Amino acid sequence: MTVNWNETRSYLESKMQAKPEIGLILGSGLGVLADDIENPIAIPYSDIPNFPVSTVEGHAGQLVFGTLEGKQVVAMQGRFHFYEGYSMEMVTFPVRVMKAIGVETLIVTNAAGACNEAFEPGDLMLITDHINFFGTNPLIGKNVDEMGPRFPDMSKPYDAELLRLAQETADELGIQVRQGVYFGNTGPTYETPAEVKLARLLGGDVVGMSTVPEVIVARHSDMRVLGISCVSNMAAGILDQPLHHDEVMETTERVRAHFLSLVRGSIKKM
Ligand code: HPA
Repeated sequence: MTVNWNETRSYLESKMQAKPEIGLILGSGLGVLADDIENPIAIPYSDIPNFPVSTVEGHAGQLVFGTLEGKQVVAMQGRFHFYEGYSMEMVTFPVRVMKAIGVETLIVTNAAGACNEAFEPGDLMLITDHINFFGTNPLIGKNVDEMGPRFPDMSKPYDAELLRLAQETADELGIQVRQGVYFGNTGPTYETPAEVKLARLLGGDVVGMSTVPEVIVARHSDMRVLGISCVSNMAAGILDQPLHHDEVMETTERVRAHFLSLVRGSIKKM
């Protein structure tokens, strides 16, 4: 099945006041950023033709158009996860739609567990690269030629210039940020301690259940990507304590102020 994003595009174009340059995907507990958008036009996912509806706690489920730091943006307040049962096509559908309405730069954010033991809960990490451990790929199926090539290059998934600019913003704001590799897998179970060791051995710094599909689709159509992880917990087995979604939400709430200034500061420089 190929979902028709032209219908979705026409609908959104009839609602939005200006073409957004920057798209934001806001992860668990990070959706508050959309509340900072000025002159907002918020459209619930349930009103948008062909859009799935998000089910996870901590995700409001709307697209918010407006300006942030003087730039035209559109934010997804709540994303779709593969573990919710959506196909990869549906998980990444909003990225296609963003491209279709003019977005050239995508900022993806998420909450993630650290498998790098030098990291701490509350750290922010600029994503330098990722490992797709979902066991599938959102581009499987007939290629959408008008979006990008059959065999897309993934040698530079995260834009070096955006990464530099985000690091510079963090330095200027006195916010300590890490840089590292995001290891994406399906969830919804958190990893076992052995899986966390594997992720670390394979080069992951944090583990999470999102981001990779969206970034693959964004790169397919040559969007520039900046990725930011909020380390909400140490991954399983590092500390002798079970993982809880509540902890993820609490930590993201604690670092919210830093996260917001980092993203706003980066957008200002774009
Ligand atoms: N593992 C996977 N996804 C996550 C984690 C984790 O430890 N924390 C927040 N999202």
